[in-house]
Amino acid sequence: MSDRPDEAVSISVTENGPYMVEGAVEIRDALGETVSEEGKAFLCRCGRSSNKPFCDGTHKKVGFDGTETADKGPIADRRDAYEGEEVTILDDRSVCAHAGECTDGLPAVWKLGVEPWIDPNAAPADEIRAVIGRCPSGALGYAEPGSGEAAEEKPMSPAVKALVDGPYRVRGGIPVRSADGEAYEVRGRQTLCRCGGSSNKPFCDGTHWKGFKDPDEASRGPAGNE
Ligand code: FES
Repeated sequence: MSDRPDEAVSISVTENGPYMVEGAVEIRDALGETVSEEGKAFLCRCGRSSNKPFCDGTHKKVGFDGTETADKGPIADRRDAYEGEEVTILDDRSVCAHAGECTDGLPAVWKLGVEPWIDPNAAPADEIRAVIGRCPSGALGYAEPGSGEAAEEKPMSPAVKALVDGPYRVRGGIPVRSADGEAYEVRGRQTLCRCGGSSNKPFCDGTHWKGFKDPDEASRGPAGNE
């Protein structure tokens, strides 16, 4: 397994249209079913397709504005560092998908409504690293205290999963290319907007919480987001 997949594996954002996924990438829908394993797939980006996760052309009928506003620079330039005694927590709010792994997993460390909202000394470092490892968007990272460098990501196979009522979870360092042809930084974990409403397209910014829903069937399934 590698977190640097073959160059033929990629995701291209199309102008006001779907994501084009190319190469040997497992794609799972919100039910957890594998719907594609290689080749070319067009995944809904406007949130309105009747054939999710695939595009059915609805973006044209609804006049979807898929303008990308996300920063293409390295996450290292955007992350805030919360230095603790045993671990430094790194945080880039701009790409957080609000999955809640951190606030649910260690609420004493990630404290909603409190400033500073991260306390890196409020739990053992190994528990903090484990929670960060579950962050689907990669907004969170960690470093050794005193080191400016984020720890390396665990290698994962290239995979895309539609999270229930949420974004596409993208793993395995799949390159994402903007509709203007420019590449985003390759990251091991990313979440791409699937509801159409993010203000930081193509990445999820948590806006799906305002009401984006998969069909009931999907939400009921053993869908799981594992
Ligand atoms: S899916 Fe999260 S903001 Fe669109």
